[in-house]
Amino acid sequence: MSSMRIKHSGAKYSAIVGIGERLKELELESGDKYLRLNRGVPSVTNIDLSEIVPLIDFDSPRMKVYPPNSGMDGLKTAINSTYFNGTIYEDNIHVSAGGMNALDMVFKTIDVDKVFLPEFYWGAYINLMKINSVENSTYFSFDELKENAASLKGNAVLICDPNNPIGNKYEDQMLLDLVKELNDNDVIVIWDSPYRKIFSKDGDIFYEHLSVFKNVIIVESFSKSIGLSGQRIGFIHSIDTDFNTELSINLLYQNNGVNAFAQILVEKILTSPQGQKAAIEFRRKTISDINKNIELLRKKNLLAEEFYHDSIPIGIFVIVKRSEAQLLESKIGSVGLSYFTKTEKEKVSNLSRICIAVPHSILKEYFK
Ligand SMILES: Cc1ncc(COP(=O)(O)O)c(C=O)c1O
Repeated sequence: MSSMRIKHSGAKYSAIVGIGERLKELELESGDKYLRLNRGVPSVTNIDLSEIVPLIDFDSPRMKVYPPNSGMDGLKTAINSTYFNGTIYEDNIHVSAGGMNALDMVFKTIDVDKVFLPEFYWGAYINLMKINSVENSTYFSFDELKENAASLKGNAVLICDPNNPIGNKYEDQMLLDLVKELNDNDVIVIWDSPYRKIFSKDGDIFYEHLSVFKNVIIVESFSKSIGLSGQRIGFIHSIDTDFNTELSINLLYQNNGVNAFAQILVEKILTSPQGQKAAIEFRRKTISDINKNIELLRKKNLLAEEFYHDSIPIGIFVIVKRSEAQLLESKIGSVGLSYFTKTEKEKVSNLSRICIAVPHSILKEYFK
């Protein structure tokens, strides 16, 4: 019994972490190895940092002192050239301690009636919103958003493409048209799509297009696109000056700067030939095995095709026609799709989200 008085926000500890703990117990009990497709990081391969680490001077002053509150200049320039083809004003970038921290700061900073989430969404959104006393609601399709853009004024819409948990990707032009419509109707768009950069091509102009909309906030992360979830680096971009001023204050009192080593490491990966080579190789191997895994699941008629009619399954997740319990019988860890929705829990009880960014040879073995 605690004698302390505690402020209970109503946010819950992640169910996905709980599933990982259960798998550990099962492994101990049975002595068998479980395939952890419940996780959310690309693990076909690790990014090879061996040629990048020698480029870093661990004894330099900039490694030791407080980094600038909005992020180190070198990293911000690297982000500008990698994500925006050098077209944005770097003062509009704020480096964060990963995407989770970035989203927390966004929810803390914007003043909206509600944030509209997709029907199937990453559970952390709801919990972050609870902590920040932000109300949420649901949208069921992009068409619905577009048709109702005018009545959404004063609200925000969150878009995640490729989506977590569905792993599907919509056409860029359709997404840009939708964002324009929402933007023009004074609806804030929170663009949180950390899986996009795994699949997008060099010179991609999508973020460059997004960056000019006054009501769009881009949230990004290096956890997925270069497999560095351990470094806790992400960023936020907006051209709204009032938002950026308040965000700076919130970030200062939340983080007091983001770890200098992690920022320098990401900067080197984005800017040095060795780093760029390692990132390309990481993504090439990741995509190659993801594609083979999708093909295998399709062949075995396991893919829940109803989710991929007007969008394509791309990864790093897909939905399969098996429940969490059924997959467990084959020693496969997954997350039931009902964890990711408020509206369709019953209807999706026989479906699960699996991470397919794992080595094809191993996935094939477990899905025999
Ligand atoms: C949709 C989505 N957004 C953001 C994040 C944040 O990741 P991180 O805090 O590691 O940057 C995740 C991580 O799983 C995610 O799935």
